[in-house]
Amino acid sequence: MGNNIQAPRGTYDVLPDQSAKWQEIEAKIIELCNLYQYKEIRTPIFEHTELFQRGVGDTTDIVTKEMYTFQDRGDRSLTLRPEGTASVVRSFVENKLFGLPDQPVKLFYTGPMFRYERPQAGRMRQFVQFGVEAIGSKDPAIDAEVISLAMELYRSVGLKRLRLVLNSLGDTESRIAHREALVKHFKPRINEFCSDCQTRLEKNPLRILDCKVDRDHPLMATAPSLADYLNEESQAYFDQVKMYLDELGIEYVIDPNLVRGLDYYNHTAFEIMSDAEGFGAITTLCGGGRYNGLVEDLGGPESPGIGFAMSIERLLLALEMEKVEIGQSQNLEVYVIAMDDASKKKAFGIIKELRSNGISADMDYTGRKLKAQMKSADRKGAAYVIVMGETEMASGQVALKEMATGEQQTVAFAEIAGTITKKKSLEE
Ligand code: HAM
Repeated sequence: MGNNIQAPRGTYDVLPDQSAKWQEIEAKIIELCNLYQYKEIRTPIFEHTELFQRGVGDTTDIVTKEMYTFQDRGDRSLTLRPEGTASVVRSFVENKLFGLPDQPVKLFYTGPMFRYERPQAGRMRQFVQFGVEAIGSKDPAIDAEVISLAMELYRSVGLKRLRLVLNSLGDTESRIAHREALVKHFKPRINEFCSDCQTRLEKNPLRILDCKVDRDHPLMATAPSLADYLNEESQAYFDQVKMYLDELGIEYVIDPNLVRGLDYYNHTAFEIMSDAEGFGAITTLCGGGRYNGLVEDLGGPESPGIGFAMSIERLLLALEMEKVEIGQSQNLEVYVIAMDDASKKKAFGIIKELRSNGISADMDYTGRKLKAQMKSADRKGAAYVIVMGETEMASGQVALKEMATGEQQTVAFAEIAGTITKKKSLEE
């Protein structure tokens, strides 16, 4: 490493001129989750490695290639979470949330996730996911609710070019039947596939279908489709999910090849893509699906679940592509200019008083001249400016200047905050 330490590859800083966007999105998330009655859950950023091996699946790309795994000083194998579902389900089981009287338990989370992937636009090594999980119901209406929440968040920030892609992965019986068909299909020519796929054939042939290496092999296009192996119950479930989506007026396209990259899914699987121009290879904004069985796999009682996750990074990218501006930063309300040391001391007290009254206030801390301070007030978009010098100190009054109109009003020190509060309430 040289003298100049840089942020690790695939990570980045959210700088002050960008943070208002993040805050607006986070505020929308909280507002929307409240409307849908999803409560926040916060889980640790690292977990026992085994959780993800068992939860996400030890043949997935995430677990085999992308995890940040390390031994801690007590020689435990820990992993920075690559996704949120396994952790949330672990917590659901550990804290016996299945015993709560109101099921399903509807949860949401936002926080950093870590995957060792090749960085590019919309693909980072540390990224922030917003996700929801509804655990404890296998009502197809909750599938539609979860999907609707994801769509609604995108709409609420102003995105329009969205495409919901839907599939059913079926129940265990359907999946076993499909699995056998896949083995039969690929086995005779499996030596033409990459070594990963050769392992997948034995362990989890479905994973072959989302192999990035062999995606153009002719056998891929002719592979047996899950849709043809759905048993009656699975088909009926899928039909109901679609019926509820129709009821909500949410459009979707069915893609029988949508398999998702994590092992815990069954029945409903979905992704929300962006159709905006300018995207590179990555257009998936959000992914999710049903995971009946995951709670049992992690040691809990039968509690079927469904959820999704989306990264804020890809949401921001979609906003950029659709040229939607969000995150107006709040302008400063009062800038106080002090001409000398005595008035600076008083000004310092006044800005504290303003802040205590819920009025944003600032002053100069670098000893600049009047003119430079005026410019600074301008740049900060100050609504009012107060100049304090000998005259003001002698009279105990200031001229409160409203920048938009140029109007000045004489106000006693003690009445500055009250006057501005009154003006603010008149504006509203
Ligand atoms: P996932 O498809 O692996 O699913 O990721 C969900 C979303 O996280 C993606 O659609 C994308 O927005 C974002 N994402 C993933 N990797 C990156 C990355 N390297 N950089 C930026 N964004 C990324 C899950 O994580 C499941 N836990 C979703 C889920 C919740 N299923 C049920 N419940």
